[in-house]
Amino acid sequence: MKVAVVGGGSTYSPELIDGFARLGSPVTELALIDPAADRLEMIGPFGARIFARYGHAGQVTWTSDLDKGLDGADVVIIQLRVGGQDARIGDETFPLECGCVGQETTGAGGLAKALRTVPVVLEVAERARQLANPGAWIVDFTNPTGIVTRALLDAGHNAVGLCNVAIGFQRRFAKLLGVAPEAVLLDHVGLNHLTWERAAYVDGVDRLPELLTDHLDDLAGDLLLPGKVLTQLGNVPSYYLRYFYAHDAVVQEELGAETRGEKVAAMEAELLKMYADPKLDVKPELLSKRGGAFYSEAAVGLINSLTGLTPGIHPANVRNNGALPFLSDDAVIEVMCDVSEAGAVPRPITPLAPELAGLVAHVSGYEELAVQAAVHGGADRVYKALLAHPLVGQHDLAEQLAATMVRDRHLKW
Ligand code: G6P
Ligand code: MN
Repeated sequence: MKVAVVGGGSTYSPELIDGFARLGSPVTELALIDPAADRLEMIGPFGARIFARYGHAGQVTWTSDLDKGLDGADVVIIQLRVGGQDARIGDETFPLECGCVGQETTGAGGLAKALRTVPVVLEVAERARQLANPGAWIVDFTNPTGIVTRALLDAGHNAVGLCNVAIGFQRRFAKLLGVAPEAVLLDHVGLNHLTWERAAYVDGVDRLPELLTDHLDDLAGDLLLPGKVLTQLGNVPSYYLRYFYAHDAVVQEELGAETRGEKVAAMEAELLKMYADPKLDVKPELLSKRGGAFYSEAAVGLINSLTGLTPGIHPANVRNNGALPFLSDDAVIEVMCDVSEAGAVPRPITPLAPELAGLVAHVSGYEELAVQAAVHGGADRVYKALLAHPLVGQHDLAEQLAATMVRDRHLKW
């Protein structure tokens, strides 16, 4: 099995490579593809050392030639970041001028990211359609994952969207309950970066009520939300819900503070220095300070199921197709799926409480408009997507933010 990683020069790649090596994936070639040849020259050899350390027989290869990297791939992971951390810092700051949250996947910042990312991902996927093996899977980790996956599926690609939020909760709950991570089956529901954990089954028994009683302060503390939000919802929201439930407080915190992008850029410089050390053959501890913890476990598990090795249950971004009856069939949702060579199919979902359904419907409408804006361009489409977003929603804000995006984002309009 050949796995191609588009954006293989990412500082996250060692996390992914470690997973393939440590979990004994049957990958024969892991091809890292990136236009940044200098990064590949550090990450490629480091990846090969990680494989060697685990005694994995597969080869780690690297190239800046997209076609060469994609050729004969069975799985194509897309994890690119158009414009690097500089563009991210822009997304995290320009909405603040309008009193809106500055975040790379949520709100106006997420739309800016979608606008510059979707066209690039679609071009990559088109090359993959020509060069990868028939039936190859595209696994998208590129944010905003829900919107990017929807654009890929609209273009007829064999794609599934991946995020590590659910596996993070699975690991966290397992630790609190003193059980093995695999023993915890979540009821994880919503849209990418707009999800809630409604249940945590261990041996068929929902232990979430117990977690909400015994560990409320810990869980709410992780999310920087008052415990009341969790008890009133009766579930555990993802930390991205803080941008909704505490929007104005987040804006106040962000004004004048260092952005996450700036912090990450500093960490990346450190990480790249470490990766260049020819003696290093394990992923450094510093990598765990990034948000992508357990990304490798999530990716390897999903890929093992999609390629038929071990069918299983995974959270994934897939077409709605009636799973959430209040959304259009074409919407992309993030839910627990039965995953096999046939693809990822949502498991039955109990009806969503109104406070969840309302927000999901609202943001899903925005995502549909965001895909249209990213694929077809045009200031009016950008304005309309912003008007439809619950964290923007007002004419004056949508007008100003759209103007900024058109001016600064260097898009083809
Ligand atoms: C989580 C999200 C990812 C996101 C990452 C950001 O893992 O699920 O979608 O890319 O956080 O982490 P960073 O360290 O770049 O802030
Ligand atoms: Mn994510």
